[in-house]
Amino acid sequence: AELGHVTDYDFSFEGPFGTYDQNQLQRGLKVYTEICSACHGLKFVPIRTLGDGGGPGFSPEQVRAYASQIEVFDPELGEQGDFRDAAPTDNFPANNAVGAPDLSLMAKARAGFHGPANLGINQIVKGMGGAEYIASLLTGYTGEEMEQAGTVLYENEAFPGRWISMAPVLGDDYVEFDDGAPSDMESAAKDVAAFLMWTAEPKLAARKQMGLTAVIMLAVLSVLLYLTNKRIWAPVK
Ligand code: HEM
Repeated sequence: AELGHVTDYDFSFEGPFGTYDQNQLQRGLKVYTEICSACHGLKFVPIRTLGDGGGPGFSPEQVRAYASQIEVFDPELGEQGDFRDAAPTDNFPANNAVGAPDLSLMAKARAGFHGPANLGINQIVKGMGGAEYIASLLTGYTGEEMEQAGTVLYENEAFPGRWISMAPVLGDDYVEFDDGAPSDMESAAKDVAAFLMWTAEPKLAARKQMGLTAVIMLAVLSVLLYLTNKRIWAPVK
């Protein structure tokens, strides 16, 4: 099969008016918490942002409840530091156990679309494709494996190097969603990819709104300047 194959999934946050789907972010957080966090960290993401507008939209109680489920390392505890329950003011923990990369900014660190001829022109139409890449990676395993220098590598159609050291971690119904949304492998992959897009770009909705406001203001200004210009030069013409 084709190398570096990324499916152009539809996401709610695409386009000039796109915003995150709050329920999808909550499902994605669940996938992250139950599966990905075993190996990956989200060390740049403050837990309290789960309550921010435009994000998963947790209530203060939900944020506190979520924080109390996870443990963070506190270097100020005891002689050499110790683990304690997280508070909303903490960031999600880092995780260096198996050398898996931190996922905070992964959706912006990877692109899904590089063509044609690696010029990236598709990105103008399709977007950068970081979330599409993550969803495609999670669903892209062929089932082939090999061992190289003592490491097991898994064949993956989305991974640019084809052989990745991350085992397949998602399957149908691995996670049960509270909102009754489908939990097949592809749906769960899209949900966690959307969640990781949010961690990488939490202000997306505000940014798009500001952009739209600016465009409208500049359009109005253009009309005013045009009319002003006509007025000023009217006696000369
Ligand atoms: C790499 C996502 C679960 C171990 C990666 C990468 C992503 C990712 C996006 C980067 C691939 C690249 O470099 O382009 C996820 C997600 C997970 C998940 C969304 C949950 C659904 C896990 C688990 C483990 C793991 C549970 C450990 C058992 C690794 C390792 C790498 C990696 C070791 C480095 C792979 C390499 O560069 O060969 N993961 N992962 N991941 N992940 Fe995961």
